[in-house]
Amino acid sequence: MAVNQTREQWGSKLGFILAATGSAVGLGNLWKFPYITGENGGGIFVLIYLVCIAVVGIPVFLAEVMIGRATQSSPVVAFDKLSNASKTNWNFVGWIGVFSGFIILSYYSVVAGWALNYTLMSISHFFDTLSPDKISQTFDVLYASGDINVFWHAVFMLLTVGVVYGGIKGGIEKWSRILMPLLLGILVVLFFYAMTLDGFGRSFKFLFYPDVSKLKPSGVLEALGHAFFTLSLGMGAIITYGSYLSKKEDLVKTSVIIAVLDTAVAIIATLVLFPIIFTFGYEPQAGPGLLFKTLPIIFSQIPGGMILSIIFFLLVVFAALTSGMSLLEVVSANFIDLLGWGRKKAVLIMGSIIFIIGIPSALSGSGAIFKNWEVIYGINFFDTVDYLASNWLLPIGGLLIAVFTGWFMDRRVRENEFMTGTSFGRGYKYWLFLIRFVAPVAVFIIVLQRVGFINIDKLFSW
Ligand code: PFF
Repeated sequence: MAVNQTREQWGSKLGFILAATGSAVGLGNLWKFPYITGENGGGIFVLIYLVCIAVVGIPVFLAEVMIGRATQSSPVVAFDKLSNASKTNWNFVGWIGVFSGFIILSYYSVVAGWALNYTLMSISHFFDTLSPDKISQTFDVLYASGDINVFWHAVFMLLTVGVVYGGIKGGIEKWSRILMPLLLGILVVLFFYAMTLDGFGRSFKFLFYPDVSKLKPSGVLEALGHAFFTLSLGMGAIITYGSYLSKKEDLVKTSVIIAVLDTAVAIIATLVLFPIIFTFGYEPQAGPGLLFKTLPIIFSQIPGGMILSIIFFLLVVFAALTSGMSLLEVVSANFIDLLGWGRKKAVLIMGSIIFIIGIPSALSGSGAIFKNWEVIYGINFFDTVDYLASNWLLPIGGLLIAVFTGWFMDRRVRENEFMTGTSFGRGYKYWLFLIRFVAPVAVFIIVLQRVGFINIDKLFSW
């Protein structure tokens, strides 16, 4: 194991907050949250989601930052170091994280590539004169064009590699300081625009008026699963970012700030998308169709739509880039810490491998590879990878992290790490209760439901 006496640190507390919020705010906030909220009845789902963030998301987030800061190491080495107190070695949890990093970035980059492509199409006024049907078909054509998808996937991976290559302060922090304010600024501009639309009031009510009759028990599990994805939990991204923190920081306060910012972005993004969609007579669609079909159709029809379209897709690109950076950092930092590689070597090699692993996802809609995948497994390759990562790898990783921190980590190290730098020391016992009981039980129920052992909707059908 390499010794890391010269480990880099964040330049400032704000730098860490912006980078970690950048990791959390991504495609999960801009399109996944809006459409699962739409599917699950609006207000009541939002309420449950807020509870999930508070009682599971924030405690696990805090556990990850603590593990990172305590060990000053990326996940595999971090679990190696902390496993001494328990007789088993938990470094496999770190390996699950590294594996998830490879998998998630490989397809995340393809979606980010579509956003790059749509930014360029907006700049060139591509869909200005097209009929709604043609605009919708354009995405189908893009999806089926393997070569174009590989091209944009490569461009996005190059951008991500370019940032992470610069290191923590000179790369990730520097770019988070530039991109995050731009992202938040764009969101605020779009929000003001959305407030002028007729559909705003209806959207507001839909989001904040909880109608209990619309609650499906499985919606609770969906909210919980999404809490992991949106806060970048369960795969060591936050452990890795936490490993560049100093003992001065107040981890409790910082974790709460980041979770609040992430939640605010998801809610504001929904308050931007829904009014646009409702006002122009559309319904929220699931999946990529919402961003890449419905919105371009609307943008092509409203005054100033092309400008809105450019800034909206830039927003998506920035959000994806700041998340992609953290995914590449998990994988690269692992080999830097474990094998003593230099950063540049690690980032270039890992970036290239992830590019290659992403090719089947980029070709997924074209049938150029794994042509019969969908016939055999029921969903195409791209959706399979997404499903595997967000429904299995992250919740299981999160479950293991919660169980490890709550039950197996050395008690003194755990308490010390929580207390150092914070003025919320009194919260320790509440946090410990959540991380020991609430988080593991909640995630375990998700896993049982996914395996098909239980069907929570039937269970509660009375
Ligand atoms: N939090 C990101 C999003 O909401 O889009 C996705 C993500 C990024 C998950 C980084 C995991 C991760 F490590």
